[in-house]
Amino acid sequence: MLNAGVKRQIAVVGLGYAGLPLALAFSQHNRVVGYDTDESRIEELKRAFDRNRALSRSAISASSLKVTAAIDDVSECDFYIIVVPTPVTATKKPDLDHLIDATTAVGRRLKKGDIVVYESTVYPGATEDLCIPILERESNLKSPTDFAVGYSPERVSCGDTDLSLHNTVKVISAQTAEALEIIHTVYSTTIEAGLWRAPNIRVAEAAKLLENTQRDVNIALMNECATIFDALGICTKDVLQAAETKHNFARFKPGLVGGHCISVDPYYLLQKAQEAGCEATLIPMSRTINDAMPSFVVGRTIALMREHNPDIVNAKIGVLGLTFKENISDLRESRSSDIVFELKRHGLQPLVHDPLAQPDEASNLYGIGLQEWKSLRELSAVIVTVAHDAFRQLEAAHFREILVPGGLVVDVKALFDATMFAGTGLRFWQL
Ligand SMILES: NC(=O)c1ccc[n+]([C@@H]2O[C@H](COP(=O)([O-])OP(=O)(O)OC[C@H]3O[C@@H](n4cnc5c(N)ncnc54)[C@H](O)[C@@H]3O)[C@@H](O)[C@H]2O)c1
Repeated sequence: MLNAGVKRQIAVVGLGYAGLPLALAFSQHNRVVGYDTDESRIEELKRAFDRNRALSRSAISASSLKVTAAIDDVSECDFYIIVVPTPVTATKKPDLDHLIDATTAVGRRLKKGDIVVYESTVYPGATEDLCIPILERESNLKSPTDFAVGYSPERVSCGDTDLSLHNTVKVISAQTAEALEIIHTVYSTTIEAGLWRAPNIRVAEAAKLLENTQRDVNIALMNECATIFDALGICTKDVLQAAETKHNFARFKPGLVGGHCISVDPYYLLQKAQEAGCEATLIPMSRTINDAMPSFVVGRTIALMREHNPDIVNAKIGVLGLTFKENISDLRESRSSDIVFELKRHGLQPLVHDPLAQPDEASNLYGIGLQEWKSLRELSAVIVTVAHDAFRQLEAAHFREILVPGGLVVDVKALFDATMFAGTGLRFWQL
């Protein structure tokens, strides 16, 4: 019924950070149409330009991927991969609007024998309880007899050049064993590291949430310990280096937790916990701890500035980094932006520099105007929030160039060694 053995024509729905690399990878082995509702994104991709700077012009132009903003162009496809955003609302509830829209559009074009695989991060049950009924309603077909559905969580860590689609094991799941084998055949052309068959769709959905919730909780523990060690006058970096010599010590570091995955996915799990009547405590507490870090960093910065000069009104503070993590341009859920707003709330003048962030995006998302390095002068303090390679390479002389004598360097990501500032006349604090 599902036409096993037939070479599949793939439609990738949603060509963002996760969808575009996926579409390009599959296009090396299959006919692939990439569909996105954002017409400007499609126009850029037709000119082989990826605004996310994740893929090069040559990689895009060398591929056979056809990109389109016209949904009818996917009608001949028989294998749909849906990888649209699943953010949270202002009240931290799952926002499934994009998922519902994409599912409706695909449902209207479904034919007998088609397969739909979801890659968007969702809570357990979203694929079966929310998406499949929409697909059935819009197509007038029944699953799993007429068409079948699978779920395969996106795992690639953007900006991490060592980990790619090719060398990361991928979890796959489906409604039936037959559909799972077809999905396995299609994905195994591209995923060289191997595929893990989850016993059902809910397990695969839950696995993705667990992966990111585990990171959130562990980083929260590091953040809490870092605040305790700071109060005790102990260097957290030194403690971590010592503790990491233990064979089973889990390596996590304190810092800001932003982005559309780690700071968002736990809320998807919490939604289901709430519906199931489970009172989760560790997960929401971890979210609270991590979300409080911008305020903690600003509080320490202000206290240390006042030690040197009690009059800090209107002082200029540099903020190095606005993206949510190192070496990428992605500004979604940036916790550095929280630092900027917190500084302003205290009557300080933040000047933000990020060589990778797009100025128009920073302005649209946060109303923050990015500064050139040469505009950073006479700063009372500088807070390094993101571990971009460009910041790692900074030397004491660079900080002397931008700070007033006695100025403060706040190193949130523990990129530098305190000894680097000895004899410079600058002061140094590290999370
Ligand atoms: N970016 C990552 O590294 C990553 C990692 C793991 C999981 N994920 C998950 O993958 C999913 C997509 O994330 P992303 O980072 O690629 O998002 P993104 O915002 O970068 O891209 C999503 C794309 O989908 C398009 N889109 C929105 N609604 C659409 C619709 N109805 N039809 C077609 N296209 C539509 C948008 O225009 C956008 O180009 C999310 O669920 C996310 O949690 C992403």
